[in-house]
Amino acid sequence: MWVCARAHSSSANLGPGYDVLALAHDAYSDTVCVKPAKETKIVRVTGEWKVPAEKNSALAAARAALEILGGSAEIWVHKGVPPGRGLGSSGASAAAAVKAVELMTGKSLSVEEAVKCAARGEEEVSGAAHADNVAASYLGGLVAVSYDPFKVVQFEPEDLELQVVIPWHEVPEGKTEAARKVLPEEVSLRDAVKMVGGSALVIKAFLTGDLELLGTAVEMDPVVTPRRAQLIPCFEEVRRAAKEAGAKGVTISGAGPSILIVGGGGEAAAEAWRRCGIEATVKYVKPARGAYAAPPPSLG
Ligand code: HSE
Repeated sequence: MWVCARAHSSSANLGPGYDVLALAHDAYSDTVCVKPAKETKIVRVTGEWKVPAEKNSALAAARAALEILGGSAEIWVHKGVPPGRGLGSSGASAAAAVKAVELMTGKSLSVEEAVKCAARGEEEVSGAAHADNVAASYLGGLVAVSYDPFKVVQFEPEDLELQVVIPWHEVPEGKTEAARKVLPEEVSLRDAVKMVGGSALVIKAFLTGDLELLGTAVEMDPVVTPRRAQLIPCFEEVRRAAKEAGAKGVTISGAGPSILIVGGGGEAAAEAWRRCGIEATVKYVKPARGAYAAPPPSLG
């Protein structure tokens, strides 16, 4: 019998918190089901988005969890989070896979173990074991991750007015890897200070429900966002349109190309992309819960 877990999409970085901050949101979700078998492998991929088994983060994540908890399993991935859009698609599959393995074995991992297992899935498909998206999808709400030592903290965010706008142009294979390669190896102390300060303000704004502060805070990134903006077609026009329509802050969701808007202005941003010849969808998002037991997806 299939044992299934669902995990939600997420927006990582939230401006200044590169690889550290992420918010789980209800834009989309993935469901991963497992059942005991002789060999651990993906046997079924369904849903709106067909991510081939060999590029699916669920496999490495489930393997890592099974190594600790024992056993092996066949895996069914039902993909609802669009891949390659900066919405934590691989993170959602990986987090759901780890939770499904816990449910199947009837054993629990510590938070850090679970997030590390899920990050193995990220590493497999994006080349880097960044744990921000997986921590958000696994734990829900707002998360902050530190790597050395490895720690994960979770906050219950207030429900603020947030939108993600998703452009549907073709993105190259290995998009996240490419979006990491444009970043510098080192940053100046001045920029580091700005990012640390901005990250603290992002957390404070979510905890106090301060929309103005969140808008300011998500734009306090002098390092990652400006470089990645160059990779996103029409980013400047889209950003400007959102701001003119009332957005309090605009940043890139994860490695992009989707954007995260604080306050209104999502429709204007989508219109700006359409004027550039790119179809775009606006999603009003709320913070989502962490990975949880779910029934097997209906395929009817
Ligand atoms: N923190 C990661 C990055 C998220 O920005 O590369 C990727 O989804």
